[in-house]
Amino acid sequence: MDRIFSGVQPTGDLHIGNWLGAVRNWVALQERYDTIICVVDLHAVTIPYEVATLEVRTRDVAIGLMAAGIDPERAILFVQSAVPEHAELNWLFTSVAPLGELERMTQFKDKTEKLESIPAGLLCYPILQAADILLYLANKVPVGEDQLQHLEFTREISRRWNAAYAPDAPYFPEPQALLTPAKRIVGLDGKAKMSKSLGNTVGLLDSPDEIWAKLRPAATDPARVTKKDPGNPEICNLFELHRHFSSPETIAEVDVKCRTAGWGCLDCKRRLADAMIETLAPIRERATELKRDSAGVDAVLARGAERARAIATKTLSETKRRMGFHGAR
Ligand code: TRP
Repeated sequence: MDRIFSGVQPTGDLHIGNWLGAVRNWVALQERYDTIICVVDLHAVTIPYEVATLEVRTRDVAIGLMAAGIDPERAILFVQSAVPEHAELNWLFTSVAPLGELERMTQFKDKTEKLESIPAGLLCYPILQAADILLYLANKVPVGEDQLQHLEFTREISRRWNAAYAPDAPYFPEPQALLTPAKRIVGLDGKAKMSKSLGNTVGLLDSPDEIWAKLRPAATDPARVTKKDPGNPEICNLFELHRHFSSPETIAEVDVKCRTAGWGCLDCKRRLADAMIETLAPIRERATELKRDSAGVDAVLARGAERARAIATKTLSETKRRMGFHGAR
């Protein structure tokens, strides 16, 4: 069976962009693949972060994943820092990681643009990501488009390591991306990709009131200045959300009422809010229950880390043996 690995940053509560773009897909994939999902807290310390809340944010992401349907009996769900082999393989991979390519990564350039002093961790972020994936010899990685460059880098690491240390028969696979159907979800500002830090999204666990408060002022087709201006759903970012949350009948109705100015944008947003509230209600309920039992959640994550480690230690010994380390068997 193919093995998939994916990671999510410990941002606290997940948002609908995470859900549409990744999590929902993982939930479906866990039925067919040997699935490993990791909350990547080691990656989170590459940029300034709040120490006091890292632990809670990590647990909350895990809760969001479980509430959305990741089944920890089926998939392996764990926290990256609980499996020290990630950091160790990361180091071993630095021996084959091309510096020039690290410097050319778009995310590295974006994140460091305004920085006076650049932490080496930001530069090496893709090496750790390669270690995450290859530690489990995963051959499929379900991610959004923005991760394709990092995945290409992972393949490069795999090729270079194999060439250097396993010239006869490759040891590490060259993992392929499994692109999610919703590759890029535009935020409520109608501009950037949805992200919690930009505040242009809806939380997966938001209450009905919070959902409405965020949708109400959201950007729509800029040509619709007044209610009487007809709009074009194809260029309205909220129509895209209708496609994901509303029934086919509502979607068809929105399409007509927008083009004919039968509805104002607020009417359309109300329908979207209703659909979103209904879709997210069961996730929110499960999350509320899980949040009441944080010890139970921590136990699930500890068990996940144990299962992950059973695989990780094997890969690491094999890697070290092939690299010729003293005592490595
Ligand atoms: N870089 C990914 C992101 O920001 C998170 C991540 C870390 C990841 N390790 C991974 C994704 C391994 C897939 C596989 O979304």
